[in-house]
Amino acid sequence: MGNYPVFLLAYFLGAIPFAYLAGLSKHIDVRKHGSGNIGTTNAFRLLGPKLGIAVLCGDALKGALAAGLSYHFFGPWGGIAGGLLAMAGHSWNPFFRFQPSGKGVAAGLGIIAVLMPRVTLAALAVFLILVLATRYVSLGSAAAALTVAVSVLVLKMPLAYRVFGVVAASVVLIRHRTNFQRILQGTEHKIGKRKR
Ligand code: G3P
Repeated sequence: MGNYPVFLLAYFLGAIPFAYLAGLSKHIDVRKHGSGNIGTTNAFRLLGPKLGIAVLCGDALKGALAAGLSYHFFGPWGGIAGGLLAMAGHSWNPFFRFQPSGKGVAAGLGIIAVLMPRVTLAALAVFLILVLATRYVSLGSAAAALTVAVSVLVLKMPLAYRVFGVVAASVVLIRHRTNFQRILQGTEHKIGKRKR
C-alpha cells in the first residue's frame, strides 16, 4: 500500500469543519445563521474575530498539511492531488452528508501557500484590494481564485500546477454561485456588519 493512505488523510484533513466546531463552542450552528457556510468568513461574521482567526488558521493549516504531506511523498502531482482532495473534503463534507459546505478559500490559501508561494502573494493582493474596495469578501475570494487560475497559465507553470489552478478556481467559483446571486440582488453580506 506504500504511502497512498496520505491521500485519504488529505481528504479527511480537508473535511475537519473548523467553523462548525468553533460555532459549537458558542452554541451557534454556523450552518443555520449568516450565509450558512461552514467557513472562515461566516465564522468571523457569527463568532467574532478571535474565533474567526482561529478558523482561518485551522482551515489554512489543514490545506497546507494535506498538500505538503502529499507533495512530500509523491512530488508535484501528489501535492495537487492531496490539495484537491482536501478541497473536496472541505467543500462537500462527508461529515455533513456531502452537502455543499466550505467554499474552499481558506483551505485553498493554505494549499497554494505550500505549492506556489509567488502566486499566493498575487492572489492575496487581489483579495485585499477587492475586499477593501467593495466590502464583499465573496468578490475578493472569487477574484483571488481567478488570479490563481490566470497566473498558473500566464507564468506557464508545470502542468500539475496549471491543472490545480484551473480546477481549484472552478471549485471556488462554483461554490460562490449563491454569493453572486446575492450580489446581483443587493442582498450579499458586507464586512463590518454582524448578522445572525
Ligand atoms: O470564503 C468564503 C467567502 O468568500 C464567502 O463566505 O459566508 O459570505 O458566503 P460567505
